[in-house]
Amino acid sequence: MPDRVLVARAAFPDIVDRLRAHFEVEDNPGDTVWTPAQLIERLQGKRGAVTTGSERIDAAVLAACPELEAVCNMAVGYNNIDVEACTARGVIVTNTPDVLTETTADFGFALMMAASRRIAESEHYLRRGEWTQWRYDMFTGTDVHGATLGILGMGRIGQAIARRGALGFGMRVIYHNRSKLGSDVEAACRASWVDKHTLLREADHLVIVVPYSAASHHAVGAAELALMKPTATLTNIARGGVVDDAALARALRERRIAAAGLDVFEGEPRVHPDLLTVPNVVLTPHIASASVTTRRAMASLAVDNLIAALGQGPSAGKPPTPVNPEVLRT
Ligand code: DGY
Repeated sequence: MPDRVLVARAAFPDIVDRLRAHFEVEDNPGDTVWTPAQLIERLQGKRGAVTTGSERIDAAVLAACPELEAVCNMAVGYNNIDVEACTARGVIVTNTPDVLTETTADFGFALMMAASRRIAESEHYLRRGEWTQWRYDMFTGTDVHGATLGILGMGRIGQAIARRGALGFGMRVIYHNRSKLGSDVEAACRASWVDKHTLLREADHLVIVVPYSAASHHAVGAAELALMKPTATLTNIARGGVVDDAALARALRERRIAAAGLDVFEGEPRVHPDLLTVPNVVLTPHIASASVTTRRAMASLAVDNLIAALGQGPSAGKPPTPVNPEVLRT
């Protein structure tokens, strides 16, 4: 009997089919978002799973699914998974870094530009039929070229955004990260480390790329927004919860900052109702990595991880991108 695995959300059928050469696969072609109880039911008897940010894998799920050995997230972020609980149970966790870096950075930059140049706001105005005459000060925004780009969280995606800003748009790039990057990496993206207060005070455009954790919960809330320039923009492509959405909506409404671009939200797919009514924010439904090429690469990497994690294929026992590699050594 081949091992049984679960693919929790619909993914490219030709890529999922690669699993069928090794395993008996239960997938979810209807793409239902299962409740925790439904997920546990589907995971019964499964040795591995391909998950997305919609599936929470915590201690309770692990306890209810003792045969589970590998959780392969089709995302670079893995805040939906209790990695510590997985490690304690010897469950390998993998994610999909690298393959989405440039696509996600493109999107972060696009959202920042849309916010600063008021693209969505002016498009809505035009669609409402309100454009009856041109004016010199219509939808004047803030420049991106030559401005100061502030990046909170300087991992791979942060660095890719920094390169776009410095090399493509002549921006001064500052960043804040728990640890300062090596001088070679800083030189490659022409970025300088600053403390968080300086980042907030000096950025004309703040882009948030820090992973979500208890430590980064509401890393940008009312106090941090109060430090920003009234002309500044804020872009969040990290995770909902890193920004206090209610405080952000207030700051936008009161024009304490100029504009925001948000791809991620606290409690998504719900969006804080106040964000839906302020005009100076561009809202997108968590699509920063959503180019066809990149989403295929993410699915493919998750599948490669699962095949290898369960001891199959050419990299048997060595999944390419483990999050808790210590499990492989035990
Ligand atoms: C990621 O890869 O973490 C993206 O946010 C998609 O979930």
